[in-house]
Order: sequence, then C-alpha cells, then structure tokens
Amino acid sequence: MSHTICLIPGDGIGPEVTRAARRVMDAACPGIDWIELPAGAAAAAEFGDVLPERTIEAIEEHRLALKGPLTTPVGHGFASVNVRLRKHFNLYAAVRPVRSMPGIRTRYEDVDLVVIRENTEGLYSGLEHEVVPGVVESLKIATRAGCERIARFAFRYARERGRRKVTVFHKANIMKLSDGLFLDCARSMHAALASEVEFEERIIDNGCMQLVRDPAQFDVLLLENLYGDVVSDLCAGLVGGLGVVPGSNIGDDCAVFEAVHGSAPDIAGKNLANPLALIMSGVMLLNHIGESRSAERIKAAYDAVLARENPAERTRDIGGRATTEAFTDAILRRL
Ligand code: NAI
Repeated sequence: MSHTICLIPGDGIGPEVTRAARRVMDAACPGIDWIELPAGAAAAAEFGDVLPERTIEAIEEHRLALKGPLTTPVGHGFASVNVRLRKHFNLYAAVRPVRSMPGIRTRYEDVDLVVIRENTEGLYSGLEHEVVPGVVESLKIATRAGCERIARFAFRYARERGRRKVTVFHKANIMKLSDGLFLDCARSMHAALASEVEFEERIIDNGCMQLVRDPAQFDVLLLENLYGDVVSDLCAGLVGGLGVVPGSNIGDDCAVFEAVHGSAPDIAGKNLANPLALIMSGVMLLNHIGESRSAERIKAAYDAVLARENPAERTRDIGGRATTEAFTDAILRRL
C-alpha cells in the first residue's frame, strides 16, 4: 500500500537525521511518497516564514508527518514552531516510549516506560506579559476538557497495550487548582475507563527522585505539558540519552512523529548526530499506519546492530565512533 508522508527536515541536525530515517524507511517500506516541507529557523532564512503556509496545507491534507527538530530562540525572537504545530493540529498527546536497548550500557537494565505528555495547555499556552516593569506573569492553563482528553488517552493507551500501571505526576499540593484539576481528571478517567490498570499518584519532585533510583517501578507516566517535557529528557538519560528516544504527537485525526531531542547546534552539520531516535520515531509512524511488518524489520535491524556493540557501527553519544551515515549504513545492511 502506498502512503504519503510529510517530511520536515528542520534545523540543526534535522536534515542529517531525517535523511537517515528516510533511507531506512524507504528500504523497509517501499512506495512511500514523501513531501519535503520547510519549517523552523532554516525556513525563515529561506522563505521569510518559520511556518510557511504550504507546510500547514500539506499536513492538513495528508494528516501525517515525520519531523526533524526545530530551533527556538531562547529568551527572545519567534515563538516555538513546535508548539504552533501541536496547537494548530490539536496534537494533544505526546507519546514517548523509553526503554533499555540491547548493547547500550547504562546504570539501568530494565527500563520500559512510556511518557504521555499533555501537549496543548499548561505553561505552554504562551500567555505571558509584563504587568509592571520588573514583574512578569505567565499563565498556566488547564481545562477540564483538555485534562480529561489526555487522561482518557493515557488509560486507553495502557489498556490497549497491556501496560500494567499509569502513574500521574503532579504538583497539586501547591497548584491546587490547575494540577488539582489534572489529577482529578486522571482519577475519574481511571475509575471510568481502566480500573483493571493500576493507578498511582506522585508529587513530581518525589517522582523524579524515584525515577532515578528505580525506574523499573514505573510503566506509563501521565504528565501535564511542562512536566512532561522535562521528565522526557530525564527518562532519556536513563536509557542512553537523547539519541535513542523517539516520540509522536497524536491528535484525533493527525499525527506528527519526531524524536525527543532538539536541533543539537553543537554537533549540527558534522555527521555526528545519532539518527536512531528519529528512525525509531519512523518505526512508531509505520506502526501507526498499519505497516507493522516493515516497522518490525527496522526494529530488528537496529537491535541487531546495537547488540554487536561494534564501535564502528554506532555514533559517539552511545559509545561508538561512527558517523551518522555509517551508523545508518549498518542498519541498512541488517535490513
Ligand atoms: P538538544 O536536544 O538539541 O541537545 C541537547 C544535547 O544532546 C546536546 O549536547 C546535543 O548534542 C545532544 N543531542 C541531542 N540529540 C542528539 C542526537 N540525535 N545525537 C547525538 N547527540 C544529541 O537540546 P538543546 O541544546 O537544549 O536545544 C537546542 C535547540 O533545539 C533549541 O533551539 C530548542 O528549542 C530546540 N528543541 C527542539 C525540539 C523539537 O523540535 N522537538 C525539542 C527540544 C529542543
């Protein structure tokens, strides 16, 4: 079956890792029709717009994208294009599986958890202003509809995939209304939808401490937007870093797949980036569109390459000396 996928190379290491993911996906699943689209700082330089209209229109039409990272300037400049895309297409659930991989040595051996992050509300609403000089206000938005929607998604996800437990991280002891609402919706969705799935609550500071002490106790984590962002990177650190954690942004009728990592300006253009996180995001995409055989083949190929623990077949961030291309070639040979 043929599929049309919008491909956003993005900024920094984005073009390198999207090229790698595309090569691997084309080899495993021939017949993908790719539409390459501009977005991010690179698009601003070339087209005068960080999110050109034709990018929005193509995603509107095809409802499926694989996206490289997009740079967002710190403390000034344009608003995050990632946040704009998530809001525009109502991609309310970020799903980020984090698991120990064969041949990637870390402090932990048995991590297998999924971070589910609310993707459209919280402090990412972008509602900030200066009240008087020297005093700024940043609004954290939580709606019952938004909190119920992500809690419903998390419990359905857990039930459908046979996961044993959902843990909600919150700070409802301090943010009694906003995090209180998030927690309340998680409790009621658990009771209504998935009483057979275990449910736990953790105040987020304690939750983070427990994550680094004993990550295997966790299964699915449910978090509001900012907490989900921070905890995703923390979890990446448990299994080998940002080079090995994929992700998806899911809405009711549109999905954008991307790695958790950013544009990594420190290594951009040097052929050093680990393409695996984006290749794994491609595997999630293929599963999403029913191409699970191709997805399985890619997964088996990179698992086999990693299991050999050959430094010539893995990038620097996971203990090797391979370039982005050499690592990709090794995966392609295994396919
Ligand atoms: P980052 O994730 O780009 O980099 C953090 C560290 O991890 C760097 O040392 C980098 O070299 C390393 N790293 C990241 N991905 C890697 C990979 N695939 N292979 C090997 N090493 C890798 O985070 P940072 O530096 O905080 O952000 C840089 C830019 O990326 C910012 O403009 C930020 O806004 C943007 N960003 C974009 C995201 C997206 O498009 N979804 C997500 C996170 C950040």
